[in-house]
Amino acid sequence: MKKIFKFKLMDRHKRILALIKENKFRLLFAMAFMLLVGASTGAVAFMIKPILDDIFFNQDQRMLKLIPIAVIIIYLIRGAAEYGHSYLMNYVGQNVIKKLRDELYANISDLPLSFFYREKTGRLMSRVTNDVSIVKGMVSTAVTGALRDCFTIVSLTFVIFYRDWQLASYALVILPVAFYPVYLFGQRVRKVSTGCQECIADLNSFLHETFSGNKIVKAFGMENYEKKRFYDKTQSLFKIEMSQVVAKSLSSPVMEILGGLGIGFIVWYGGHRVISGTSTAGTFFSFMAGVLMLYEPVKKLAKLNNNIQEGMAAADRIFDIIEYESDIKEEKNPVHMTRGPHTVRFENVYFRYEDDWILRDINLRVNSGEIIALVGMSGGGKTSLVNLIPRFYDATEGTISIDGIDIRKLSIASLRDQIAIVTQEPILFNDTIRNNIAYGNRNATGKDIFQAAKAAYAYDFVMNFPKGFDTTLGELGSRLSGGEKQRICIARALLKDAPVLILDEATSALDTESEMLVQKALENLMKGRTTFVIAHRLSTIAYANRIIVLVNGKIVEEGQPHELMQTQGEYYKLVQMQFKK
Ligand SMILES: Nc1ncnc2c1ncn2[C@@H]1O[C@H](COP(=O)(O)OP(=O)(O)OP(=O)(O)O)[C@@H](O)[C@H]1O
Ligand SMILES: [Mg+2]
Repeated sequence: MKKIFKFKLMDRHKRILALIKENKFRLLFAMAFMLLVGASTGAVAFMIKPILDDIFFNQDQRMLKLIPIAVIIIYLIRGAAEYGHSYLMNYVGQNVIKKLRDELYANISDLPLSFFYREKTGRLMSRVTNDVSIVKGMVSTAVTGALRDCFTIVSLTFVIFYRDWQLASYALVILPVAFYPVYLFGQRVRKVSTGCQECIADLNSFLHETFSGNKIVKAFGMENYEKKRFYDKTQSLFKIEMSQVVAKSLSSPVMEILGGLGIGFIVWYGGHRVISGTSTAGTFFSFMAGVLMLYEPVKKLAKLNNNIQEGMAAADRIFDIIEYESDIKEEKNPVHMTRGPHTVRFENVYFRYEDDWILRDINLRVNSGEIIALVGMSGGGKTSLVNLIPRFYDATEGTISIDGIDIRKLSIASLRDQIAIVTQEPILFNDTIRNNIAYGNRNATGKDIFQAAKAAYAYDFVMNFPKGFDTTLGELGSRLSGGEKQRICIARALLKDAPVLILDEATSALDTESEMLVQKALENLMKGRTTFVIAHRLSTIAYANRIIVLVNGKIVEEGQPHELMQTQGEYYKLVQMQFKK
């Protein structure tokens, strides 16, 4: 059990420790301040004896002047040291958290698409915001506060031993007894904390879904249903938080009761010694003050265990993601694909997401300058097929090659650099229209951006906005109509000007007239490029060199449009059906 804990600490949390170590000079200064805080606390307890014995009992005039000044100086030093310590330690904590967040975000961004489909957005957000904050609790309050408390305990222990070593020895016997229940509560806190954070992650994902999908909630009159679901979730969170509160709050009273026993004993035994004349009242009160002042840092140390347990649980969830291995891997020395016309080839490609085959035995060669249209029923696997080209997913079997090189041998960045995509759902970011069009192409000039927008028939409607191309989009471009969003996505792909072009239902949301116009721009763009077009509206692919009909993941027909019309197969049937409509 201990071994696993140690192994984990070494293996997983050593990265956190490494991050903490980067701040070693700050830590050294903070430690110096901590020593001062500890020493001054001890000094306060120490001063009780001269105050009582010299001022009150002996009525020493000199001491009456000196001691108050000493007390003020001690508190001044203590205050300054507290501030320095707190500032530096929080600096270290915040700094570690920033780096941890950055690393987490960088890792999440690099994970394959399949990961994002599996994990809910809200849960991932919860990892980056909530869990990281909990780790901060561990680093800046726990780990660092612990050192200060330890110093304080050491200095106070010194004082009480100096004042009365026999009594101090008795008092120390109680400590381990007090710590055992605290250890047990810590274990429980860690367990409950995991449940609690999972619950919060779940809540976040629920909020994300129902806020971004609020239109559907309203359209289907599901407000009350969602409210009820939310109440249920907050109820489970409430319950779990309360069991955490129980575990956390029980550790204090348990210690307090044990502490009370100890103090009762000290009063009885110490009082006895003062009355019998073996000790002075000053010694007794100085000792007593030391013990009482010990209580606070010891209590904090006990809570520290709770913080560490919570932090470790959160760190585990964070490292689960940081250490998640992407299944889309790059070779050690990948081939860098240079720009130019490319031939894309699928050889015996099979693909599945989970159990069922989505694509079966795909053999396809698309030369540069060729326009391939993929048609077929919804769910037939068209989007899945084109997703394999930029390696959003890897083929389960078979190979896909560009210019004869297996795409798994290419550097992923250089591969994706060759491809411009208009995806089936238009995805835009909450940024200006200008930046959305120039996405991935930061060097584009204003003129390039205008040209791309003009070709995609986006220029006019954008210029109608008061701020034109500097208008920012609401979340997910919700201020734009479906067709407007599509046109911005097309402009973005046009600006990328890549040799391989993938258009997945790129113009499906446009009216017939705009579609015809955008189509012309696209046709111009397709010249000399390797193009994959997916379209349900068959009239829009009349210009394709070759049509591939995909049914249940298999290519059932292939040929030029007029040939396919003559053979009167699947394509013919699709055309007939649309024509009848
Ligand atoms: N991320 C995914 N995980 C699991 N299954 C998926 C995923 N994406 C798609 N599928 C499944 O793969 C099959 C093919 O989907 P795909 O999106 O490729 O079809 P499509 O031909 O593009 O359909 P449409 O014309 O409706 O866009 C469908 O049955 C779909 O449910
Ligand atoms: Mg699709």
